[in-house]
Order: sequence, then C-alpha cells, then structure tokens
Amino acid sequence: MNLLDKINKDTLPKHLAIIMDGNGRWAKQKGFLRVFGHENGIKSVRSTVENCAKLGIENLTLYAFSTENWNRPKLEVDTLMKLLISSLKTELDTLQKNNIRLNCIGNIDLLPSKAKEELLGVIEKTKDNNRMTLTIALSYGSREELLNAVRIISNKVKNNIISIDSLDESIINQHLYTHNLPDVDLVIRTSGEHRISNFLLWQIAYAEFYFTDVLWPDFKEDDLYEAIISYQKRERRFGKTSEQIK
Ligand code: IPE
Ligand code: IPE
Ligand code: MG
Repeated sequence: MNLLDKINKDTLPKHLAIIMDGNGRWAKQKGFLRVFGHENGIKSVRSTVENCAKLGIENLTLYAFSTENWNRPKLEVDTLMKLLISSLKTELDTLQKNNIRLNCIGNIDLLPSKAKEELLGVIEKTKDNNRMTLTIALSYGSREELLNAVRIISNKVKNNIISIDSLDESIINQHLYTHNLPDVDLVIRTSGEHRISNFLLWQIAYAEFYFTDVLWPDFKEDDLYEAIISYQKRERRFGKTSEQIK
C-alpha cells in the first residue's frame, strides 16, 4: 500500500501552512552557494502545490520570505526577489491548469516594484480559480501583521466606526492579512528546526505541528503524505476531554 492510500480524504487539514526551511544548508552540503538552494527549493514548491491541490486541500500557505529575512546579505535578498519574479511568470500556467487562486500575506509594499507588480498581476489573473487557495507569505511577520491590525482597529475606534465594547476575536481576524482564510490546522516545518519564526502566531492557536529533518529542496510527495498521515492520527481536543470529542 502506498502512502497516498493511507490518507483519508474526508479529514484533510482545511488549511495547511508550511515553513519551507533549509535551502541554504542543502546547497552548502553540496558545496554550492546558498542561492543554489533557493533555486532548487522551487521544484519542491511546485510539486507540493500540485499534490495539495490533487489531494483536495483547500488552503495552502507557504512561508517564502519573512520580515526578518530582509536582514540577509543583499546578494541573497536580490536573488530571492529575482526568483520570485521568474517563478511567478513560469508558474502562472501551473496555477491556471490546476484551478488554483494565488493570494498573498505580508507587507508587500516593501517588495521591489517589479516583484509587487508581477505578484498582483498573477493574483488578479487567478482570482476566479476555486480548487485551492495558495497563499504566499512574503515580507511577512506575524508581529507586523498584528501591529498593522491594531493600528487599523485603533483608527476605527477613534473615528467611532467600531466601539470598544464590540471588539472581539472576529474583529481582530477581519483585520489580519489572513482575514479570508480559516485557522491553520497543520504546520509543517522542514530542516529540523523546531521554531515558529514569527509565522501566523494568532492563526496557529490550535494548529497541529509536524517537524521533519528533510531539507526543503529534498521535500517530496511522500514527505507531504507522511505529514498528513501523522496529522490524521491525532486527536484534536480544543480544550475538551477525549470523551467529549467521541
Ligand atoms: C528557507 O531556507 C528559505 C528562506 C528563508 C528564504 P533558508 O535560506 O533559511 O535555509 P537555511 O535555513 O539557512 O538552511
Ligand atoms: C523562516 O525561516 C522563514 C521562511 C522559511 C521564509 P528562517 O530560516 O528565516 O528562520 P530562522 O531565522 O531560522 O528562525
Ligand atoms: Mg532557514
């Protein structure tokens, strides 16, 4: 029996989020520059996106570039931005063929104008696709997202658009970059690191976590399936007792 047959299509995570980590180490191990790892990471992005869509996962979010990643050497940042532009160009076809809508979270005003333009173009061209929403976290940091939400909400309170008494969790949700996405069910992080690195702090409140030592450019179909199988074996209790869930 192959791994795919072990997956129950009725209990898939509705929202899978992946911290794609380990590109630099992958390249270094092979004696290459870090950027070579990023180029190879794109193959894993393509196969993961296609396999998630085929499985029937409705929301896939990929952490591609954090607010903290702006502090990397200029050569690496420039290469990542160039790779972003070229992949948006080449992958549009894959998105259309697979009926996938592109979405983006993060402070995209910080992106080079060419990258932002290309990104907004693909988002517009795929806006009616409805098999899966692929969200790319770009120039994304959860603290920046929360700060941004606090600013917008404070302004609305100041201008009497929202009253303090009516503030609740759903209002916070509505002001996050992820306002149109459900909470995260499963987070996968590759490369053996066991940390969140400022990713979706609010949205992962009740997510399950799956960590693997596999470096992102080596992450293949079966690695994805293993993560989902592990997720499906868990009992999500949301604070209740096991008896209450059954
Ligand atoms: C993840 O791989 C990609 C980005 C953060 C852009 P890294 O570049 O972090 O690779 P490692 O963790 O240094 O190996
Ligand atoms: C997290 O990876 C960000 C992305 C995968 C885009 P990092 O490699 O930047 O995280 P740290 O610095 O190891 O925590
Ligand atoms: Mg890393």
